[in-house]
Amino acid sequence: MTADIHDERILVLDFGAQYTQLIARRVREAGVYCEIRAFDLGDAAVRAFAPSGIILSGGPNSVTQADAPRAPDIVFSSGVPVLGICYGMQTMAAQLGGMVNHVHEQEFGHARVNLLARSALFEGVVGGDFFDAWMSHGDQVTAAPPGFAVLASTATAPIAAMADEARRLYAVQFHPEVTHTACGAALLARFVRDICGCCGLWTAANIIEDAVARIRATVGTDRVVLGLSGGVDSSVVAALLARAIGGQVTAIFVDNGLLRLGEGDEVMQVFAAGSGNVNALPLQVRRVDAQEEFLGALAGVSDPEAKRKAIGRTFIEVFDREANSIPGVRWLAQGTIYPDVVESAATRHGKSHVIKSHHNVGGLPHNMKLGLVEPLRELFKDEVRAVGLALGLPESLVFRHPFPGPGLGVRILGEVKREYADVLRRADAIFIEELRAADLYRAVGQAFAVYLPVGSVGVVGDARRYEHVIALRCVETTDFMTADWSQLPHELLGRVARRIVNEISGVSRVVYDITSKPPGTIEWE
Ligand code: XMP
Repeated sequence: MTADIHDERILVLDFGAQYTQLIARRVREAGVYCEIRAFDLGDAAVRAFAPSGIILSGGPNSVTQADAPRAPDIVFSSGVPVLGICYGMQTMAAQLGGMVNHVHEQEFGHARVNLLARSALFEGVVGGDFFDAWMSHGDQVTAAPPGFAVLASTATAPIAAMADEARRLYAVQFHPEVTHTACGAALLARFVRDICGCCGLWTAANIIEDAVARIRATVGTDRVVLGLSGGVDSSVVAALLARAIGGQVTAIFVDNGLLRLGEGDEVMQVFAAGSGNVNALPLQVRRVDAQEEFLGALAGVSDPEAKRKAIGRTFIEVFDREANSIPGVRWLAQGTIYPDVVESAATRHGKSHVIKSHHNVGGLPHNMKLGLVEPLRELFKDEVRAVGLALGLPESLVFRHPFPGPGLGVRILGEVKREYADVLRRADAIFIEELRAADLYRAVGQAFAVYLPVGSVGVVGDARRYEHVIALRCVETTDFMTADWSQLPHELLGRVARRIVNEISGVSRVVYDITSKPPGTIEWE
């Protein structure tokens, strides 16, 4: 690798749209590094960022209001290519002498965009004279600024795209970042690769090489400790550390008694040198059996938030104790990823449009006097997965559904008991096994079983028995903030239910949760 993979960089200025992270993901998919920053980044900060191009996101405001957010002036004067999207287009128009009005005929959803003029932006992106795109706006540009050509229109928006080709300023009213705009990804790639002149350094192989070099430069010959949960993020961190500084790392895997069936063994197989797996990564993994400690802390606790707190507190105690027993540890490695960074920045700056706070960040001891190593801080989840695969992690681990930190602790309603956890683990394993067999595991966002300790009648032979209930939950989602319940084939659900009641004693009934989010949440507690 000759160039720094961050040398080519796109600045995405965020005006508060729901879809800003999608813009950044599409840019990264085009092989170009980018960062999301708040729209009011100062001129000096824009200059210091040294972008190869700038994208202005959409946003909920109206540029017709006096105090509407504006892009820093340097955006339009610095000579780098700019692409305005939705609100980004409107503020570009307003700031450069065009006109924007609130219109009665708002456009939401699909719209046919008719091309009116040729432009570098659409070259090689759109085959014919029109394409379908996704729109969501109440204001529209009614007069393009001086020097701009009108490139496209829709039935209700006479200016759906515009450009000043000489200054390389482009703007579209539709949303190229959402998948409903079929040519959207190609359009964003055209902008960052061809118009901004980026050659695409942001690949999994280069990301790995860069991360390995940085980890080595940061920690030198020091010892590093890592909390390995078996989830995707901490596993990819472990694999990166193994490649960079294998012998200096101790990973701590805490078995809290609330894990899925076989999870601990699987983690040891993949990671622990000496596990008998010839492909195991060269890491020292400490498997800590803290089941008694966690179950003890949960005894008599039935409130969900109190359970979360008890589990979190116990985790910190156990982890702290283990980490402190490793001599000479100076660094703590964590699986923080880019959306966590963006969302916590948005929360800090009060520009948050976050519906749900992230549960997975934090959670580790604050008083540990260790430096932080966070090699995934710049990566989106899809990039973390691509890196994991390129590092040789098994697909079953890389594409594993998310699993909450408190584990089965929030999937056993009310008080947690070991025997409930044992039953739930087996029911969950049957559900997941059947989903995989039906080739549906990767198609859904998250699937799991929930334990309901309520007496429900069943008939075994001639006897009536009151036993507990298992609920199956399976949702389709991309961001976990909203979710639809999965319309799984009835035959599959029937097979899962049959197996659960036949193979596991203590369960008399299986139900399927058909609540979407909102108003339901994905988890039951
Ligand atoms: P909800 O239930 O809020 O879940 O719709 C959204 C996503 O967050 C996960 N989740 C958690 N993750 N600790 C975690 O680490 C938690 O306490 C927690 N609660 C929910 C949930 O599994 C889903 O992916």
